[in-house]
Amino acid sequence: MRLRWLLVRDQAGAELERWLTPAELAEGGRYRHPGRRRQWLLGRVAAKRLAGESLGGPAAVRVRRGPQGAPWLADPDGRPQPLALSLAHADGLALAVTAPGAATRLGADLERVEPRGAAFLEDHYTPEERRWLDGLAPAERPLAACVAWAVKEAVLKALGVGLGAPADSVSVGPCALAPSGEFQPVPVRLAGEDAVHAAWRLAPGGEFVLALARLAPA
Ligand SMILES: CC(C)(COP(=O)(O)OP(=O)(O)OC[C@H]1O[C@@H](n2cnc3c(N)ncnc32)[C@H](O)[C@@H]1OP(=O)(O)O)[C@@H](O)C(=O)NCCC(=O)NCCS
Repeated sequence: MRLRWLLVRDQAGAELERWLTPAELAEGGRYRHPGRRRQWLLGRVAAKRLAGESLGGPAAVRVRRGPQGAPWLADPDGRPQPLALSLAHADGLALAVTAPGAATRLGADLERVEPRGAAFLEDHYTPEERRWLDGLAPAERPLAACVAWAVKEAVLKALGVGLGAPADSVSVGPCALAPSGEFQPVPVRLAGEDAVHAAWRLAPGGEFVLALARLAPA
């Protein structure tokens, strides 16, 4: 299945206004925290630019939010578009990922590569993941922990639950960690019967991990 992705960097307000309707700008205005407001708006810009490439331009695309917060694509009259969407943001970046089929279960995440403390690993990582991390050279652990976390979040978004489900219900890795400009597959074990296709790569610049996950049709 063809997944498409787009990473958008923070930009001046005028650039946001170029892509978003007055109603979308007003909707973003409901976030009081300026950083969260910009993230929300930037996510909409990424989604409209990317989905617009498949759906006849950004003006044909609206981003709606499901009951648990998952985004989905509509036309300007509110009818579902035949494309699945997932969004993530971190610092001044927003990641949008699309795949054909409104019902495709798709997730994406974006995480800065940084060390994660022992208590965080203990609380959120599975024993298998911790064994993988413990077996790595110390210099490799921050990237591996970041890949595991980003892929977990992408899977939990594909399930539509986010961190409403325990993070250790998904077990990620082990996988090769050589940085590459391409998405690399990573094994995922998920309680239940869903088969998961997941992959990660570094964003240009190497500071962030991008993760994608798609659940196989039931
Ligand atoms: C999904 C979740 C893990 C994202 O957390 P995060 O690391 O802070 O944020 P990210 O940048 O990675 O992702 C944010 C995007 O995930 C998407 N998202 C939110 N909830 C989602 C869900 N249940 N399923 C799939 N995607 C979801 C949204 O598009 C959101 O961006 P937006 O609010 O600008 O549209 C977290 O929001 C969560 O656990 N939500 C579900 C539980 C919850 O709080 N539910 C209450 C909803 S009313």
